[in-house]
Amino acid sequence: MKSYINRSMATLSNKTEEGKISPIDPGEASLTLLNDVTSYLPRCDGRRIIIIGNSARLSASEVAARAAQVISIDPGELHYHSSTIRLRNFPSVPEGDSRKTMVAENSGDLLIYDHRVSLINEEQKHFLKRSLSWVREHGYVCFLQTTNPGKENSVQQSTDTLCRITSATYNGTQPEEVFGLDLILIRHISGPFTQRENEADRKMMWLFQKVKRKVNTDMTFTTLQEILNNQLYTKVRIRQLESIFGRTFVSAGGLTATKQFLKKLCLRPGMKVLDVGCGIGGNAIYMAKEFGVKVIAMDLSSNMIDIARERAKELDVSESDVDFEVADATKREYPEDYFDVIFSRDTILHIAGKLQLFQKFKTFLKPGGQVLVSDYCCSEGEHTQQFKDYVKTFGYSILSQREYCATLEEAGFVQIDTENKTDLFIKTTTQELDRLVSRRQEYIEEFSLEDYEAFSTMWSNTRKCAAVGDQILGLFYAENPK
Ligand SMILES: C[S@@+](CC[C@H](N)C(=O)[O-])C[C@H]1O[C@@H](n2cnc3c(N)ncnc32)[C@H](O)[C@@H]1O
Repeated sequence: MKSYINRSMATLSNKTEEGKISPIDPGEASLTLLNDVTSYLPRCDGRRIIIIGNSARLSASEVAARAAQVISIDPGELHYHSSTIRLRNFPSVPEGDSRKTMVAENSGDLLIYDHRVSLINEEQKHFLKRSLSWVREHGYVCFLQTTNPGKENSVQQSTDTLCRITSATYNGTQPEEVFGLDLILIRHISGPFTQRENEADRKMMWLFQKVKRKVNTDMTFTTLQEILNNQLYTKVRIRQLESIFGRTFVSAGGLTATKQFLKKLCLRPGMKVLDVGCGIGGNAIYMAKEFGVKVIAMDLSSNMIDIARERAKELDVSESDVDFEVADATKREYPEDYFDVIFSRDTILHIAGKLQLFQKFKTFLKPGGQVLVSDYCCSEGEHTQQFKDYVKTFGYSILSQREYCATLEEAGFVQIDTENKTDLFIKTTTQELDRLVSRRQEYIEEFSLEDYEAFSTMWSNTRKCAAVGDQILGLFYAENPK
């Protein structure tokens, strides 16, 4: 299944029981919302969709019109037991409380939960678990939640609830079978590159994929997002990195390296850029301010995106210039032929499936579109034990520059070019370490002595790995064929 953005989608249709398409008018506000929601959903042509909650609008949408079957479930305000089910394209089914018989387990391709999720009582928890059991493995689950930023705790409450839902595991139909939800995307509903007018009562969309999980007996984190948020990039850790690499950056060389790397591109005002693994926004904000490009900046760590949004506000960068979203680069689908440039700085080292990722990049790029990636690489041949341990500790997935280029080529890119930027890496790392030493007291006061020592040891080791030739900072440029 693929998601799509079809901004010109002006006519929504409603299939009648005879299968004819009749136009419906959900009203202008709803239309905008619908366009936004459906633009981020996986493509569901010929699939089965289950909609819970405000189903009238969604079942009238194009996503639903293309589905093989739409099952609308109206739970009514907290009266789950008396919910009714309406089925489209399946007219002979009787209505009524027939959930158990009518919605088979593992049968749905997409579950849309357009209803406030709350886990206050057992009945609500039971209903949630039951509805998740309707979705097949690798099927999608979308929660649409209204949050009011002006209302105290509204956003936080909704986030907390969704976090509990996603960090939980759910029993499958087979013994020992356990499922979980992998995050694909969290974002406000209002299209990219549009300015929101009404800050109050915003819709948030959370999109997940249902996946099998191993039972987690040692209580460590299971998803990559949990590892990023809770181990590698806690909010304190992000502030520590930013204090070394410079405001809005969490990568070696900060803005100095960015300026150098961007010379490879010819950015022009209005170009659409995707920043993959944007961290706290430095690269995206710089590109938007300096070149007038429009950036979608995505990162799987919600800690990063929270801080990135704060920084954008402080620097007076609007959401129409840089649109930040929490998303997994390995799962998020963007429309085909959409971006002029895909940029990524020191992020793809976290991703093992580089070929699949580059294949995705290729579909999102316009013909002739450009890719610019900086990433940690390794030298050819054997490496020191110190380097191997360091790569293992951080769970990095690292290729040589030659392998990296071969992967880009296999994905279909042309005009591939690479530069070894290790000298710059060593130079900036040395400056960063010097700065850390000169600010030792300040750093210890802000964080702790333990943090100071841990960071200086870690960063000295990284510099050493680069100095002995194990670690290379590679810069890669490639083009989508015209
Ligand atoms: C070293 S930081 C670089 C951040 C930023 N590019 C910069 O230059 O400051 C790597 C980033 O990759 C993000 N990341 C890792 N895996 C990701 C994934 N699958 N999808 C999106 N972001 C990911 C991390 O959360 C982190 O913010």
